Amino acid sequence: MPPPLRPTSSAPHQAIPACPSEAVFHAAIQPGGAVFDAPASLSLLQAAEQAGLSLLDSSCRNGTCRTCICQLVSGQVRYRIEWPGLSLDEKHEGYILPCVAHAASDVVIKLPS
Ligand code: FES
Repeated sequence: MPPPLRPTSSAPHQAIPACPSEAVFHAAIQPGGAVFDAPASLSLLQAAEQAGLSLLDSSCRNGTCRTCICQLVSGQVRYRIEWPGLSLDEKHEGYILPCVAHAASDVVIKLPS
């Protein structure tokens, strides 16, 4: 069983209520407007791939290389690792690592330009 997910958002110190692992949220990607289901049990990268979308770049898939870095425009995510490779400033600016971030609400993600 994976370790508990760590909450984060653009306000990383804000507590996010636990969501059931069977919860399924709605995710949208900007630009382009692609949408997909984002089960709480899958990382956003896995959920996008499960939906047949290959819009997110990835490499390590464990939250260290930062290849997948995106910006969370709206919504909240949780992390399945203790310290994803983001600085506190980056977290405050809404950056996320979709390979280890799981949706904790409906989310809108902005790809790097
Ligand atoms: S793919 Fe390496 S941090 Fe996401």
